[in-house]
Order: sequence, then structure tokens, then C-alpha cells
Amino acid sequence: MFPSISFLVLSFLYTSISATNNTTASTCAALEASLPEDVFLPESNTYNASISSYPFIQLRLHPTCLIRPNSTADVVTAVGILKGSRTKFAVRGGGHNANRGFNNIEDGVTIDMRSLNGVEVESGVVKVGAGAIWQEVYDVVEKYNVTVMGGRIGVVGVAGFLTGGGISFFSPELGWSCDYVVNFEVVLANSTVVNANATSNPDLFAALKGGQNNFGIITRFDLKSFPVTPLWGGRIAFAPTADTALLEGFTQFKLGEYDPYAAGWVTNRYNGTSRSYAPTSILWYTKPDLKPGALEHMTNVTPQVMNGMTTAYPSAFARNASMVVKTSNLNTIWATTTFHISPTIIHSIHSKWKSVIPSLCESYAYANIASELTFQSLAPPPKDGAAVNSLGFDATSHPEKDLVFLQIIFYFSDSAAFPGLNNALKDFITMFDEIADGEGVGHDFVYLNFAAAFQDPLQAYGKVDFSGLARTARRYDPWGLFQRQLVGGFKVSKNDHGHGNGNETFGQGPWEHS
Ligand SMILES: Cc1cc2nc3c(=O)[nH]c(=O)nc-3n(C[C@H](O)[C@H](O)[C@H](O)COP(=O)(O)OP(=O)(O)OC[C@H]3O[C@@H](n4cnc5c(N)ncnc54)[C@H](O)[C@@H]3O)c2cc1C
Ligand SMILES: *[C@@H]1O[C@H](CO)[C@@H](O)[C@H](O)[C@H]1NC(C)=O
Ligand SMILES: *[C@@H]1O[C@H](CO)[C@@H](O)[C@H](O)[C@H]1NC(C)=O
Ligand SMILES: *[C@@H]1O[C@H](CO)[C@@H](O)[C@H](O)[C@H]1NC(C)=O
Ligand SMILES: *[C@@H]1O[C@H](CO)[C@@H](O)[C@H](O)[C@H]1NC(C)=O
Ligand SMILES: *[C@@H]1O[C@H](CO)[C@@H](O)[C@H](O)[C@H]1NC(C)=O
Ligand SMILES: *[C@@H]1O[C@H](CO)[C@@H](O)[C@H](O)[C@H]1NC(C)=O
Ligand SMILES: *[C@@H]1O[C@H](CO)[C@@H](O)[C@H](O)[C@H]1NC(C)=O
Ligand SMILES: *[C@@H]1O[C@H](CO)[C@@H](O)[C@H](O)[C@H]1NC(C)=O
Ligand SMILES: *[C@@H]1O[C@H](CO)[C@@H](O)[C@H](O)[C@H]1NC(C)=O
Ligand SMILES: *[C@@H]1O[C@H](CO)[C@@H](O)[C@H](O)[C@H]1NC(C)=O
Repeated sequence: MFPSISFLVLSFLYTSISATNNTTASTCAALEASLPEDVFLPESNTYNASISSYPFIQLRLHPTCLIRPNSTADVVTAVGILKGSRTKFAVRGGGHNANRGFNNIEDGVTIDMRSLNGVEVESGVVKVGAGAIWQEVYDVVEKYNVTVMGGRIGVVGVAGFLTGGGISFFSPELGWSCDYVVNFEVVLANSTVVNANATSNPDLFAALKGGQNNFGIITRFDLKSFPVTPLWGGRIAFAPTADTALLEGFTQFKLGEYDPYAAGWVTNRYNGTSRSYAPTSILWYTKPDLKPGALEHMTNVTPQVMNGMTTAYPSAFARNASMVVKTSNLNTIWATTTFHISPTIIHSIHSKWKSVIPSLCESYAYANIASELTFQSLAPPPKDGAAVNSLGFDATSHPEKDLVFLQIIFYFSDSAAFPGLNNALKDFITMFDEIADGEGVGHDFVYLNFAAAFQDPLQAYGKVDFSGLARTARRYDPWGLFQRQLVGGFKVSKNDHGHGNGNETFGQGPWEHS
């Protein structure tokens, strides 16, 4: 089998690097010697295109070199060379995580997985290369009249989305998208390739569902498929005066009888340049014959300025929703928090945001800020007997019914505003948590896929799941390659900030301090 052969080859390379020049540039040279087709330097068009393709400006860091593996074997080779060199590296899937340094690195080496974007359908299982984006998946699987639990916006990557949980069109009924992965193919720190599934490496299988990049580099996801049917859905834009009514609609939607076919979110957006609010909602109903179901709490709200509700397949919704993201070309940063629904909580949080946001935008007028506040539901946990994930909800709980998470986002043109706006995000999260705690509806969950770098979603899974993740990381990566050398992502190893940031000193013994 190729893993063990590669391992021998890599031991040789390891020795030759240590004997020569141990710098990032020499690591890139060693990578180029072994993977001549895959390594790109700053002068090349591929390098430039890759950096320019990050959707948010703050993510466009400049690695010393970029690797674009074409196969699992290429990833194996790269991991061996990187480990031997001690050079810091980042791994990029779809590149849509907004945290600077999570999917790219200044100096160092970035592994851009996007050439591994194959999608194959084999007897009900969809095998997806870890560098694919959801649009590529939907476009293939719909030809087979099936679909999968995936992202609702086509440009988002499969890998980041699934390793953070993943909320899909069908989540209100079926749960987290990660629970529909039947097998992960993973390259471990020692350059072996393993499958993680319900019967093989089940601890790793659970850890990868919520634990992001702490355990290895995933090269393939095998996803359960189910028959595709059209959905009813789309975007509704409301008049600025409808904001309270829309949030009241969402509140009633959450307080009322649970409708497993109703998905989507409500947003209010403030544009600091035009000084105007724009409440919108993006909604889907997975049983079009029964529409609008509980979505009526939102679809009945007036006045509406645009109503795009229509019946179509997931691929069409994912493609349309991508248009907005593709053209943004702004700095985009976000944070999240979670609370129990109550008759007043969403209004209280929204009022607080509205009371602060115009003057905040005014004080950074040079940066053309816009801000969004979005509310949506969590997904149900796997039912008893199903394989577990690591998100921290037990089988008998119903986070999908009574919990709401919010995202607060800033869009801005000038990077100089970053430190100030990042602090503003922290302050907002503190204020929102205080409001929720004050009402007695606070909740610790922090949804990883929308968490800011200063938050700690892994610890928020709770003691049991967090220590399980740390144990699993130590078991599969005792040396700490993915703790210390793979920068970016939320780490199970601790530092001063409560979570790792890949910045610890090397060679200090066990990487986990607790
Ligand atoms: C426009 C937009 C829409 C979104 N819609 C949804 C939604 O509907 N539902 C939802 O739940 N979330 C949604 N998200 C959040 C999204 O899930 C996260 O941003 C996610 O991190 C994106 O995955 P990615 O592969 O594009 O990210 P990347 O930034 O490429 O990766 C994220 C993290 O995963 C790690 N990683 C990437 N590839 C691998 C790999 N092969 N092996 C190991 N680690 C890897 C990276 O190192 C990085 O730390 C949305 C985000 C955006 C920007
Ligand atoms: C490269 O340098 C680092 C830091 O100086 C050192 O810890 C590491 O062992 C070196 N790697 C090799 C392969 O010599
Ligand atoms: C190591 O590589 C760097 C960058 O290529 C170069 O500047 C330096 O001179 C090299 N050092 C040695 C000892 O070869
Ligand atoms: C890279 O692309 C940018 C624009 O995206 C351009 O300004 C720059 O000249 C390009 N650099 C190279 C080396 O092609
Ligand atoms: C590997 O991928 C690069 C682009 O990323 C491509 O130019 C090259 O031809 C590929 N090589 C093989 C052997 O597929
Ligand atoms: C998908 O469904 C269409 C319409 O029912 C049918 O014509 C087609 O053969 C199906 N394709 C596959 C691959 O099953
Ligand atoms: C689980 O992994 C084992 C070992 O690699 C493999 O034989 C089996 O096919 C995998 N199961 C699934 C569902 O992929
Ligand atoms: C805000 O509004 C202005 C003027 O209408 C527009 O040009 C700009 O693109 C908007 N900004 C954002 C971030 O949406
Ligand atoms: C996609 O956008 C077009 C143009 O606005 C619209 O006509 C169409 O109905 C949309 N489709 C979906 C599925 O939202
Ligand atoms: C690689 O690591 C895994 C997990 O720790 C271990 O099971 C396996 O034996 C190791 N393989 C080699 C060749 O060291
Ligand atoms: C990494 O550590 C250095 C030295 O302590 C510090 O200057 C730098 O800001 C740290 N970087 C991050 C991302 O924490």
C-alpha cells in the first residue's frame, strides 16, 4: 500500500533537509523537488490567482510558496517534508472562513486543496475531494437525482463547513451536515492515510465532526445521499420600517410549533455610507407542496420591497446565493453567540445593535462600513444509536427548537479599521451575552463556523467533548504537527488566549498543557 512506501521515501527526504538549509525557502525547494507540478512561487499566475481568489481581502496573505496537491499521495509527500522542516503551514479548503490566518499564511507554506475537487457518485455514496466547493458537489449529484447535506451558498468549501458542523437546507429535519459523512479519508501527521468511519478509527470519526483541523488533513469526504426534490425558497427584502415586524416574526416562528421543513435566517443590515437599514430574510421550505408552513411568520411580514421566493433545486439556490459573496471584495469579519429563544431576547439584542452601530460606522467613515446582524436556528443532534459528533449536544436535547445563534458581521473597505472593528466585535459579543444572561436565556455554545478567532468554540462544546477532542488529537498526532506547525483554526492545545494559534515555541515537550 502506498502509505508505507511513501513513509520510507519521506524518511529519506527528512534526512536530506536537515542536512542542508533549514528555512522556509529551502522547504519550498524541497517540496518543489518532490512535487514539481504542485508548487507555485509568488511570480506565477497560479499563485496570484489563488491568493486573489480568497473572498475577503484580509485573507489574502502571501505564503513563501503555495502547494496545490493533485492526489492524496501528494498530500502525504507534502506532510512528510513539512514535518521534517518544521516550517509553518496553513491548509485551505474553500477559503471562506473569515478569520485571517486560518486558511493562509504570510511567509510559510499554504496547501491549497482545491485541485482535489473530484465528485463521484457510487451506489448511494458521494465521494467528494476535500478541496471541492458545494456548487461543484450539487452540480454533479443532481445529475443522479440525489442531493447531500451541504452548504446553502455554492462558493463555500466542503472541508471547513463539514469539520465545523455544517447547517444545510435540510438541517431542521435531518441535523448537522457532518452527521451525513460516512467516511473521512485523512492524512495523519506521520504520513499514513487512514479512513475514519463508524467501524474504523471511530474516535477520529467523531472528532472530525466539529474538531476542524486538529487531527490531520482530510483528503476525501464520503457523503450519504438521498433523493433530490425541489425546494421552495429565496430571498425577501423588506422596507427598513419592517425590521421589528420581521424579528417578531422570527421570534414567533421559534416560539411556535416546530416545523422540520422550515430553514433559513433573518438579517438586518446597516450601511454606514448610505446610513440606511435593509432587513432581509433568506428562507427555504423543503416540502414545497406544504408551503409556507411555519415560514409564514416571515413571509407574511410587510412592507416587502423584493420577493424572490420560487421553487427550484438546491444547486440553483446555492448558485444564486453565491453571486452576492463573489462580488463583495471587502474585508469581512464576524463573530457569533447563542441563546435560548424568549419573547423579548431578539428585540433586546437588535435594539442594542441599532443603538450603537450608526455612531460606530461614523467613527470609521473612511472604511465604508456595513454591518449585519443575523439570527438562525441550530440543528438537531444525532439521535440515539447514530454515530456521535463532537458538538456537545446529547441525543435527547433539542437545540434546534429552543436555541438561536446570531452572527454579527462587519464589511469594510479599508484594512486600517480592522483592529478597531475586531474590538467592536468583542464588545458586541460581551454586550449580547450580558443581555441574554440578564434575561436568564444565555447559552455557552459558539458555532465554530461563524466564530471569531478570539472566541473558543471547541471549549464551548463542554468538558466531555473538549477533552475527547484533545485525547484524540494526542493519539493521532502525539508530536503536535497540527497543533504547532499547522497555523490557523481553533486548536485543542492551549495558549494564553485559551485556544492555540499555532504560535507556541517548538521543542517544549508535550504540546498539550492541561
Ligand atoms: C458566504 C458564506 C455562507 C456560508 N453559509 C453557511 C451555511 O449555510 N451553513 C453553515 O453551516 N456555514 C456556512 N458558512 C460558514 C462556513 O461553514 C465556514 O466559513 C467554513 O469554514 C467554510 O469552509 P471552507 O472550506 O470554505 O473554509 P476554509 O477557510 O478553507 O477552511 C476553514 C478551516 O478548515 C480547515 N481545513 C480546510 N480544509 C481542510 C482539510 N482538507 N483538512 C483539514 N482541515 C481543513 C482550514 O485549515 C481552516 O482552519 C458560510 C460562510 C460564508 C462565507
Ligand atoms: C529546523 O529548525 C528548527 C528551528 O531552528 C529546528 O527545531 C528543527 O529541528 C530544524 N529542522 C531540521 C529538519 O533540521
Ligand atoms: C539558506 O537559504 C536561504 C534562502 O534561500 C539563503 O539566503 C541562505 O544563504 C541559505 N543558507 C545556507 C547556509 O545555505
Ligand atoms: C497579481 O494580481 C494582481 C491583481 O489581482 C496584479 O495587480 C498583480 O500584478 C499580479 N501579480 C503578478 C505577479 O502577476
Ligand atoms: C497538478 O496540478 C497542477 C495545477 O494545480 C497542474 O498544472 C498539473 O498538470 C497537475 N499534475 C498532474 C500530474 O496532474
Ligand atoms: C433522473 O430523473 C429523471 C426524471 O425523472 C430521469 O429521466 C433520469 O433518468 C434520472 N436520472 C438518473 C441518473 O437516475
Ligand atoms: C471504514 O474503514 C475501513 C478501513 O479502512 C474500510 O474498510 C471501510 O470500507 C470503511 N467504511 C466505510 C463506510 O467507508
Ligand atoms: C453602502 O451603500 C453605498 C451607497 O449606496 C454603496 O455604494 C455601497 O456598496 C454599500 N456598502 C456595502 C458594504 O454594502
Ligand atoms: C436566481 O436569480 C434569478 C435572477 O434574480 C431569479 O430569476 C431566479 O428565480 C433565482 N433562482 C433561485 C432559485 O433563487
Ligand atoms: C501513524 O500514526 C497512527 C496513529 O497514531 C498509528 O496508528 C500508526 O501506527 C502510525 N504509523 C506509522 C507508520 O508510524
Ligand atoms: C506570536 O508570538 C510572537 C512572539 O511572542 C508575537 O510577537 C506575535 O504577535 C505572536 N503572533 C500571534 C498570532 O499571536
